[in-house]
Amino acid sequence: MKTENRGSFSSKIGVILATVGTAVGLGNVWRFPYIVGENGGGAFLVIYILSLLLLGIPGVIAEFIVGRHSHANAVDSLKKLAPKTKWHWIGYSGVLAGFLIMGYYAVVVGWTLEYLTQAILGNLSGMTVEQYGQVFDQFAGHPYWPLVWMVIVMLISTFVVARGVSGGIEKISNVLMPVFFLIILVMVANSFFLPAAGQGMKYLFLPNFSELEPVAILIAIGQTFFSLSLGMGCLITYSSYFKKDVSLAKTATQVVSIDAMVAILSAMIIFPAVFSFGMQPTEGPSLVFKVLPNVFQQMPLGTLWSILFYALLFIAAITSLISLLEVVTAYIYENTSLTRRKAAFIVTGMVSVLGVFASMSFGLLQDVTLFGKTFFDLLDFVTASILLPVGGFFISIFVGWFLDKRIIATELRIKHPKAHLFIKGYIYMLRFFVPACIFAVFLYSLLG
Ligand code: TRP
Repeated sequence: MKTENRGSFSSKIGVILATVGTAVGLGNVWRFPYIVGENGGGAFLVIYILSLLLLGIPGVIAEFIVGRHSHANAVDSLKKLAPKTKWHWIGYSGVLAGFLIMGYYAVVVGWTLEYLTQAILGNLSGMTVEQYGQVFDQFAGHPYWPLVWMVIVMLISTFVVARGVSGGIEKISNVLMPVFFLIILVMVANSFFLPAAGQGMKYLFLPNFSELEPVAILIAIGQTFFSLSLGMGCLITYSSYFKKDVSLAKTATQVVSIDAMVAILSAMIIFPAVFSFGMQPTEGPSLVFKVLPNVFQQMPLGTLWSILFYALLFIAAITSLISLLEVVTAYIYENTSLTRRKAAFIVTGMVSVLGVFASMSFGLLQDVTLFGKTFFDLLDFVTASILLPVGGFFISIFVGWFLDKRIIATELRIKHPKAHLFIKGYIYMLRFFVPACIFAVFLYSLLG
């Protein structure tokens, strides 16, 4: 195993931006607004924030402890901390999950690049609602265009990952994440001037608990995992590049807050727009691709807003795709004689094969289903609903029950007279509360 020169994030701001880069992605800008829309607005937001605080923060800290203490990838970290046991199988499942998520995530990142290109070319205007729907269906079902874009986004990610931790991942995050925040703030400011701004904001921020179904709680927990990149060793891998002076609890709190903020800001962009132009928030996953172009074209300077929005979506998505590639690449690179570049290339090749099938789920393979799901949906279901919750469950149990408490205390290094109480409380959460909640989501996913 190669352990020397693993690299590390060189600055504290780099740590935050890179970790925010993995967390903030399609999950925030695309998935969050449409599930809020499907689950009744404000009340769902309250549940989601509770889930972030009670499960998200403890979960992120647990992966950070494992990663920073072992300074190793998702698999070898657990081999180091629990030698001669089977705990490192969590890592194998994580590497597998990373690979499978990439298989469909890269396809969607490719779509964002297509929409960005079309927006720049000025082709996203002058159509009816139905035509926008057809444009999306025709593009997504095309035999090769989505594949070309998918390979392009994988090659961009490969290029970044091949350049290593501080020279690649940290550098690109340091440039792209500030641009991302600038775009999102400009767009939120614009939102306030839309005719139905008030209605959109009310929908998002005024909780109406009578409309909340119990299932929404479980959906909120699933979203917590996906959005924070939790449960597959992604945060183990990233935190293995943290230096000793990085405060784990503080970083976790900051990353979770920023992730929540971006999700809320994205919803603040989308709901006022949807209501202003007479559309429904319950549109579902196609909201961003089928509905928004129509919204943009009705706004003054519509082309500019659509370019900004798809640029935003692409930036958010590519930094997350890079993190997924890094998890698998770091494992292969540190366990073989391959260079980073070669390892990343091989993973890209394999992901592209998966991506062909995922993409064809919208075209040629539309009607080929297993358990009633297309290949694309199956990849999403197996990862988000099974592998991530199971991974999170076992990481929580591992840190709560099996990891030496002194390691937890050393890594958390809380300077407070009552620090031991805090650590005790934290360990209780990992032992009982977190696994119990995840177990509930898991049962629901399988039965529901
Ligand atoms: N968190 C990212 C998003 O919100 C997606 C992602 C990146 C992810 N790495 C992950 C999800 C690891 C689960 C596990 O889009």
